[in-house]
Amino acid sequence: MGDTAKGACAHNRYAKLCSKGGEGSLKKQALSKSGSTARAEGMSTIRIALTANSIAALRRAAADCKACDLWKTGTQTVFGEGASNARIMFVGEQPGDQEDRAGRPFAGPAGKALHQAIAEAGIDEAEVYVTNVVKHFKWSPAERGKRRIHKKPRYSEIHACRPWLDAELRVVKPQVLVCLGATAAQSLLGRTFSVSRQRGQLVESPLAPMVTATVHPSSILRAPDDESRHAQMRAFVGDLQKVAQFARRRAA
Ligand code: URA
Repeated sequence: MGDTAKGACAHNRYAKLCSKGGEGSLKKQALSKSGSTARAEGMSTIRIALTANSIAALRRAAADCKACDLWKTGTQTVFGEGASNARIMFVGEQPGDQEDRAGRPFAGPAGKALHQAIAEAGIDEAEVYVTNVVKHFKWSPAERGKRRIHKKPRYSEIHACRPWLDAELRVVKPQVLVCLGATAAQSLLGRTFSVSRQRGQLVESPLAPMVTATVHPSSILRAPDDESRHAQMRAFVGDLQKVAQFARRRAA
C-alpha cells in the first residue's frame, strides 16, 4: 500500500474519533456531554485535515478538534506556524503554559531557546515551520498556587492528534523533519528511539526525505548551572548546524 493510501486508512479511523464543535460558548455545552458523545458527534473536523490544502484551513479546522479530551482543559488548539513551504519542520511535544495562552507554538522560554539556536545555526526562519505532536496543553494544577504543571501526553492523545501532523507534513512537505525530544522522536520514529544515543543522526522514515531528532530545548533550560546550560546549548546548535547541512544537501 502506498503512503497516501496508508495515510487515508489511518485517517478514516481518526475521522471516527472526531467531532465538529462550535466556537467559544459552545465549548460549555459540549463540556456537559460525555467524552464519547463529544467525540462521536459529527465527523467533519478531521475530514478537513484529509482534504485541506493550506495551513490556514487546517488551523481553522483544528480549532474545533475534540478527538481527545485535552480540548476541555486547554485554552485553545495551538496549531503549527511558519512558512507553509518551509524546508525544515521542527516538531515538539505539546504547547506549554505560555503557548496555550498565546495560541502559538514555541512562544515561551523553550521557544526562545529554540529560535536562538536556529539563528546561531545559520538557519533562516523563513525556511522553518514549528509544530507539536499534540496540539493542546495538558496540565494539572499545582498543589499550591495557580501554576499549571505540564503533564506528558498519553499515547492515545498523541494518536488522536496525529492526523493534524500528517496533514501539516502533507501541505508543507519539508525536506528535513526534526523531532525535538523523546515524545516527538518516539511517537514519530518508534518507541525504542533514544534521543541521547541517536541525536543528530539521519533516520530512515517515510515522513520526509531527511529525518533526525535532537533534544527538546526545554531540557537545556533545566540544566543545573550556567556551564552545563552553555554546553548543552552548544551541542543543540551543533545538531541544528547538521540540520542546516542536510537542508543544503537536499537543495543542491
Ligand atoms: N514545548 C513544546 O514541545 N512545544 C511548544 O510549543 C512549547 C514547549
